[in-house]
Amino acid sequence: MPQPIVWQCPSNIALVKYWGKHGVQLPQNPSVSFTLQQACTQMELRYTPNGGPAWTLNFWFEDQPNEKFREKIAQFLRSQAPEMPFLAGLDLQIRSRNTFPHSAGIASSASSMGALALCLSTLASQVAGHAPAPAEFYRQASRWARLASGSACRSVYGGATVWGSTPAVPGSSDEFAVPLPTALHPEFADYHDTILIVSGAEKSVSSRAGHALMQGHPYAQVRYQQARTHTTTLVEVLANGDLATFIEIVENEALTLHGLMMNSSPSFTLMQPNTLAIIARLRAYRQATGIPVCFTLDAGPNVHLLYPAAHEAPVMAWVRDQLAPLCENGRYLPDQLGAGPILTNG
Ligand code: PMV
Repeated sequence: MPQPIVWQCPSNIALVKYWGKHGVQLPQNPSVSFTLQQACTQMELRYTPNGGPAWTLNFWFEDQPNEKFREKIAQFLRSQAPEMPFLAGLDLQIRSRNTFPHSAGIASSASSMGALALCLSTLASQVAGHAPAPAEFYRQASRWARLASGSACRSVYGGATVWGSTPAVPGSSDEFAVPLPTALHPEFADYHDTILIVSGAEKSVSSRAGHALMQGHPYAQVRYQQARTHTTTLVEVLANGDLATFIEIVENEALTLHGLMMNSSPSFTLMQPNTLAIIARLRAYRQATGIPVCFTLDAGPNVHLLYPAAHEAPVMAWVRDQLAPLCENGRYLPDQLGAGPILTNG
């Protein structure tokens, strides 16, 4: 019986946001992200030959059979049949769990679809009897992750990642993400991301519906151009350590994402009163202390606080005193820039 394949894949937080797509999960603009360290999916894939031409799939999430996720993955595998002939004649068993709590309002599709794509890439290598060169392996995993769930393609690499064709990054592509080609400035080493849980509720607008809001959006073209410019500048900033420009771009990207949702038709307001209260306190704190802490937001009310590791002690004391009371049940999750997925078996 073949050994199980086990990957641990982290989530990622976008600094320049992907919002709007075309074709088969292709982005309208390039995006840049930090891969996280703590918020991960651990996925185990077991496979046995069944002697037939077809494949079967069983799926467990946190030790329970989960039909909704099983069907989502089965649908993805069916849609990729021409690319995944190695699945033929295999009984597949997938067990998945997250290292972060279910009700933390953290999107799990990036880490879970990243983990799935990595497991499938390892399976393809095992069935073929030879592994491609690492760069090719990760490119394929990133492409499959993108086809499963857009921004998941950025999770297959550690550090900072770029998805979408941009002149700022040679070799970048709309089809898959690539690691930032230049070394990160030391300011960004172990960059912290403290995730403030304003609400752990399920997202009120799905990614699919969210991206669709950009079709015919009156600001769409201006937005895509802005994201291209932000990507070019941010790629420079990540190499030169200009934190003032980092803060300006990252906060503008978060508020632009939410602004686009608020002035879409239909319109969504995903920030909550405490999201805005946290932003106001953060800006006052930065002004008063000079500590370069900034925020970003996903498509939801929770706030990601981003800051250099050197400022951990005062920022965490301030979070405990001033921001935790604005979080649901006082909850926040410490995280930081991570080294990327790990193959723990296979
Ligand atoms: O990958 P999706 O389809 O879940 O879209 C992600 C969209 C944002 O999280 C809001 C931005 C991003 O680039 O991750």
